[in-house]
Amino acid sequence: MLGVYFSGTGNTKYCCKQFCDTYEEGSIVESIEHESIVDMIRQHEEIVFAYPIYWSNLPKLVNDFIKDNASIWNKKKIYIIVTMGLFSGDGSGCSARLFKQYGACIIGGLHLKMPDCIKDVKILKKNVHDNKILVQNATIQINNAVTKLKNNTPSRDGLGYIAQLIGLFGQRLWFYNKTKHYSDKLKINADHCIGCGMCIGLCPTKNLVLLNDKAQALDKCTKCYRCIAHCPRKAITLLGNKVVQQSKIEDYI
Ligand SMILES: Cc1cc2nc3c(=O)[nH]c(=O)nc-3n(C[C@H](O)[C@H](O)[C@H](O)COP(=O)(O)O)c2cc1C
Repeated sequence: MLGVYFSGTGNTKYCCKQFCDTYEEGSIVESIEHESIVDMIRQHEEIVFAYPIYWSNLPKLVNDFIKDNASIWNKKKIYIIVTMGLFSGDGSGCSARLFKQYGACIIGGLHLKMPDCIKDVKILKKNVHDNKILVQNATIQINNAVTKLKNNTPSRDGLGYIAQLIGLFGQRLWFYNKTKHYSDKLKINADHCIGCGMCIGLCPTKNLVLLNDKAQALDKCTKCYRCIAHCPRKAITLLGNKVVQQSKIEDYI
């Protein structure tokens, strides 16, 4: 089994790895950012594909990855894992419909509630103890889902028609524009930025550059919050104007 994930701040990477390691010792688990990921996918028949949900939809980067590599999904057996802060409706269904269009067979879906990753907005933020409980519960859910998959009764979170209606009318319809395009709205506070370049190395879309010893954002932000979670000066924001929390998944394991 091959685990393939995209993860902005670590939640999805943790869940994908936990699932694959529990399912089969020695599973390979890699990000869609890995330079050889397409070849790896070609070489495997069974794939666990994992991503975070943004506004009940696929992150633009994940959507593009699936579409840009349309030919590699034919005849693959794909189990989809989605992580979310609160609610996603048909989070797994969003990619399932694309994968099916490209000839894949969807063998299951799993929705996992994890700590909210929007570091510059207070709403949905939990304390360390409550986030640890969230991660513990997700881990139990993963173990149960692996058992179900092994028993040929895989979980099918987000894959039905009712879930599709809930995802569509609950959120996706109203916020569709937010995931349709990459964003040019990443803000960098030049007074706080020390030009260390950490964000530049971390960005999955190469959206950040150094100009006059200060980080500067271009117009291809996928809104993953990785740079915001790691900036040592809390100089980067996106949806809000102030970083309120920079905790990482490692703080909750
Ligand atoms: C731009 C954006 C939009 C999000 N929208 C949703 C949402 O619609 N529903 C939800 O439950 N969580 C939402 N989240 C929270 C993430 O899905 C959640 O924290 C996820 O586990 C992050 O995974 P990661 O650490 O692998 O990036 C959103 C996060 C971001 C950054």
